[in-house]
Amino acid sequence: MKYLIFCASLFLSFLSFAQKPALIPIPQQAEYPQGSFQIPFQLNISGPQIPQLKAAYALLENRLSQNAQKKITWISDQGIPGKLAHIQFQVLKNQNPALGAEGYTLQVNTKGVLIQANQAAGLFYGIQTLYQLLPKEIEAKQAQASVKWMIPFAKIQDVPRFAWRGMMFDVSRHFFTKQQVKQFIDEMVAYKYNLLHLHLTDDEGWRIEIKSFPNLTKKGAWNVPKIGRFTEFSKPEPNEPRTQGGFFTQDDIRELVAYAKDRFVDIMPEIDVPGHSMAAIASYPELSCTPEAVNYQVISGEPFIDWSTGHAIALQDNTLCPANEKVYTFLDKVFTEVASLFPFEYIHMGGDECPKNYWDKNPQIQAMRIKEGLKNSQEVQAFFTRRLEKIITSKGKKMMGWDEILEGGGLPKNTAVMSWRGIAGGVQAAKDGHQVVMTPNSNVYVDLMQGDAIIEPPVYETVRLKDSYAFNPVPEGVDARLIKGGQANLWSEQLFTYRHLQYMLYPRAWAIAEDLWSDQPNKNWDSFTKRVEAHFERFDQAEKKYARSMYDPIFAFEKNAQGRIMVDMKSEVSDLSLHYSFDHSYPDAFYPAVSGKIEVPKDAVEMKVISYRGGKPMGRMISFPIVEMKKRIK
Ligand code: ACM
Repeated sequence: MKYLIFCASLFLSFLSFAQKPALIPIPQQAEYPQGSFQIPFQLNISGPQIPQLKAAYALLENRLSQNAQKKITWISDQGIPGKLAHIQFQVLKNQNPALGAEGYTLQVNTKGVLIQANQAAGLFYGIQTLYQLLPKEIEAKQAQASVKWMIPFAKIQDVPRFAWRGMMFDVSRHFFTKQQVKQFIDEMVAYKYNLLHLHLTDDEGWRIEIKSFPNLTKKGAWNVPKIGRFTEFSKPEPNEPRTQGGFFTQDDIRELVAYAKDRFVDIMPEIDVPGHSMAAIASYPELSCTPEAVNYQVISGEPFIDWSTGHAIALQDNTLCPANEKVYTFLDKVFTEVASLFPFEYIHMGGDECPKNYWDKNPQIQAMRIKEGLKNSQEVQAFFTRRLEKIITSKGKKMMGWDEILEGGGLPKNTAVMSWRGIAGGVQAAKDGHQVVMTPNSNVYVDLMQGDAIIEPPVYETVRLKDSYAFNPVPEGVDARLIKGGQANLWSEQLFTYRHLQYMLYPRAWAIAEDLWSDQPNKNWDSFTKRVEAHFERFDQAEKKYARSMYDPIFAFEKNAQGRIMVDMKSEVSDLSLHYSFDHSYPDAFYPAVSGKIEVPKDAVEMKVISYRGGKPMGRMISFPIVEMKKRIK
């Protein structure tokens, strides 16, 4: 009998473990008592009628009525005695200091769901958690009749670790429409991101209407459509039709800002200067101090910067001229309009990857160096940055820039730094007393490949899911008060469609959401990857795309003492077995499984490998040519 009770309790505890909801990001504190609440057909909801929550309430009502087929009635907060709402939202009359501005508590018990917060933002994040507690079919496109609409009992208290939980969206390299940006915002907030950094200008397109400079969008927003590998495209013919592109009108921007605000997202605009400015220069060549700029065009993905030395050498001068007063008049007008459109306190001015080779030999800039006592072209850029800071602060905004703005010295203290070349710039900036947002390319560049180049759509480098999950925005020894938070950065050179955008973002954006929201001790890789798998199923319901790259192996190659190639293959995710062949046939679960390094047979031409779990293929069939292995060993 004792044994039976022991087994039963073991089974129950197993059940409760197995049923633990797969929340991303993981909440600060959560308990899941045994049991669940069945949502009744006649579903009463109550909550404070705060305008900023209108959109969130409407979406919740829509999903519960369409997907779960419930009949919803909103009842007054006071309610009729004895007739409590099944889902209640409450702003706390007595504020709970532990919850801050964005935290919430969420309880599910026999009576239903109660979400409480100090402010509307907390209720909004409580709703996002509620979706993840509901069956995955809440995400579906159509109603699903067979689902039991249950919510597991829960007692959650949840507060974000960082106030800045950003995503950067590059709408310049490839334009994405207003509707797509709205979709992007909807998808961000489901994982509790709250800051959209819009990269609005670059060499390939200017994406925001500036009334004082109409050519920026008449000319600067358009290039030649090309398909293939961006940055390696052929140079457009002089009269080739420039039909690819687009821009946001000022009304579009106002609409996006309002849409974002209703979802508790701020939008930070980026106007990237003085480098990355070919679209502006093609529109107004007088902004350049290179005479041949009169012949320049918006870049269409053809090579125009030489990166072979590790830093930018321009083959065409894509910089605004810091020695030209017209440039500062231009910037004043542009930032006046930008500042009036975006209520957010920061404006990002780029400042990254500015080639100096044209400046080094330009007589106007040499004269400016002598006049201003600037030792080199880096100090010239720093001079430009300081002048721009005065312009931006004169519009009532704070300035932020990529970490290159630290170079050349003299950066005003109230300028914030976004660290992208690893964390070094952020560490230095914090030491110098600047506010910092951490976006190291080693962890959060979600435009980069998420697996081996042999299988992924090619981009410069690889950032695996595990790298994204390892991100901690506060490095040791840095004053945490200066780290505002972090960001996933999505550049769009190689992004041609929204579905591929989703592939690049997910699941890495889930990892970064947890890096930014969850307390460090609550993070756990094995727990995270299990939850990722549950969210894959949610995305299947929602018909959203994601990458299964975490199931594909990490490869390493070496030569043994006999000069033979040894292959080392490891899985990022637990419980996988890797099966391989060298005979060109497609391996399955009955082929040899990897354990330790494998010697490549002398005459082999290619290796095929695929991951399995429990007899089911999990990763993709990868064909690895032996010649490619040889190249890697070199
Ligand atoms: C950057 O990735 N150039 C900021």
